Amino acid sequence: MEHRYLYIETFGCQMNVHDSEQMAVLLKDIGYQQTNDSAKADLILINTCSIREKAEQKAFSELGRLMKLKEKNSDLIVGFAGCLAQHLGRKVYSRVKGVDLVFGTHNIHRLPEMIKAVQKDRKKITQIGFSSRIHSLGVFAPPPQGSVSSFVSIMQGCDNYCAYCVVPYLRGPEMSRTPEDIITEIKKLAVYGIKEVTLLGQNVNSYGKNLQHKCDFVALIKMINEIEDIERIRFTTSHPKDLSDELIECFARVSKLCEHIHLPVQSGSSRILKLMNRGYSASEYFQKIDRLRKACPKISITSDMIVGFPGETEKDYQETIDMMEKIRFDSVFSFKYSERRGTAAGELPGRVPEAEKTQRLKALQALQDRHTQEKNTALEGSVQEVLVEGRSRNSEQDLMGRARSWRIVNFKGDAGLIGRKVSVEISRGYLHSLRGKMIKN
Ligand code: SAH
Ligand code: SF4
Ligand code: F3S
Repeated sequence: MEHRYLYIETFGCQMNVHDSEQMAVLLKDIGYQQTNDSAKADLILINTCSIREKAEQKAFSELGRLMKLKEKNSDLIVGFAGCLAQHLGRKVYSRVKGVDLVFGTHNIHRLPEMIKAVQKDRKKITQIGFSSRIHSLGVFAPPPQGSVSSFVSIMQGCDNYCAYCVVPYLRGPEMSRTPEDIITEIKKLAVYGIKEVTLLGQNVNSYGKNLQHKCDFVALIKMINEIEDIERIRFTTSHPKDLSDELIECFARVSKLCEHIHLPVQSGSSRILKLMNRGYSASEYFQKIDRLRKACPKISITSDMIVGFPGETEKDYQETIDMMEKIRFDSVFSFKYSERRGTAAGELPGRVPEAEKTQRLKALQALQDRHTQEKNTALEGSVQEVLVEGRSRNSEQDLMGRARSWRIVNFKGDAGLIGRKVSVEISRGYLHSLRGKMIKN
């Protein structure tokens, strides 16, 4: 078989990262070896995201940069994949001439056949149809050598139609993989040395709804808890409306489940939450937080926030700030509302001026940084269980791992500890990480 090089650039969320891994596996079968050097590539794939306008701009500017390589090498094949490809389809060709192939989020499994067709006739190929089955999720992508933690897709798509969000239009309806498929994949990952799995879906709390043989998310977690070589379980993303008491209880009862939940709230104003079609009010969200903290007092809670949603008044925004003051999240990802075509929010009145959005976001982030710092400082002197993931980026002698709360911990140690759980006494809490000293392993 002829040897060729593949370069993939990935934007967006973990789903896209996962999809890119699957693309690499599929292409290996037809002779493509992955490279980090785009100049060496015979095939370039850009896996794009569409969640906010900025993500789209980034994808196109990167495409523009990579297209220059085609001027030097006319045999180079360039493919445009992912959520933005799903949306634009053939329109990509009119924006950027030399693109050979455009394929959407449900067509990854067809990649080898698409590439072969391009190689044969140099004809443009576009595949953005939706399928009623999960195809590519069944492709096993071996984790990179030395990995300790891995994501496992348990479902695809989303049925929630939050008013601001494009995902349901780009990833299709929600579909769950069978528990058998998921367990088989996790057992395989364990053979490769994986100790921690993060179960991945847009709304993992509703896992199993469409399965023929019923299995809900709690049952799935309990099954995974029994897999011997897996030591930690995490999941993302949870939707507050579907967070059941049974799942909350798991944080107290399921030994391998880490005490961290990412529970995006988006706004502290019930009026805005309603306009967002989130399916819960601010007080219902507060109740869920109370229950989580009752069941598991040390649980770490992170969230997502959007500022400047259409019609968001100063008072609505203040409710978000008040909520953050009351709950004190461990960390928050926050965004300026970005209008997406085709979404319900695009039709709503009351656009918030850009400068106002910027100012709201800045103040919100400053507040959250304060909370995050306070929480991390409060951990000084505590002992944390850390799963060692690898060498620290900052120093050769340091190792890096995560505490059960998802915080990054750096400490001095030997590379032989990678993949092991160790106890680290925290000496310093920074904004983005903790530093400590190993006390035993
Ligand atoms: N399924 C997940 C995550 C979806 S995307 C969930 O429901 O939480 C990740 C985050 O991007 C969202 O939580 C939201 O905060 C943000 N986001 C999505 N669409 C957006 C938009 N149009 N403008 C700004 N932020 C957006
Ligand atoms: Fe988007 Fe809402 Fe689905 Fe999350 S739950 S992917 S925010 S529509
Ligand atoms: Fe982006 Fe698609 Fe993920 S829009 S956030 S890559 S599901």
